[in-house]
Amino acid sequence: MIGRLNHVAIAVSDLEAATAQYRDVLGASVSAPMDEPDHGVRVVFVDLGNTKVELLHPLGENSPIAGFLERNPSGGMHHLCFEVEDISAARDRLVKQGARVLGDGVPKPGAHGKPVLFLHPKDFSGTLIELEQA
Ligand code: CO
Repeated sequence: MIGRLNHVAIAVSDLEAATAQYRDVLGASVSAPMDEPDHGVRVVFVDLGNTKVELLHPLGENSPIAGFLERNPSGGMHHLCFEVEDISAARDRLVKQGARVLGDGVPKPGAHGKPVLFLHPKDFSGTLIELEQA
């Protein structure tokens, strides 16, 4: 059911420093920072050709990654995003198999304007999973 790895998201406490590290130390191609107020994050995309790294930084008061950075002050891997052909069909299949979808279960536009859902990390080996409509 899942397709390509769309991105690996890494939460960072200093977005400028993390961007410079990927760009200057690792020699990767990085985007300009983008604000995503609906998701409470500011994001920089690192384009790797076969997939992306998303550097996530909290935006606003109730950012969903603020707590993560409190527990992991030096940052860390936050989630994996897999592409699926049909996000509603994928959700129905996962729920039927006992997986928990976060929030109200309705796909919302994600970082790339396509519908996304998140799956409970406790159901997937301690890893938060994002599904994105391909
Ligand atoms: Co993501």
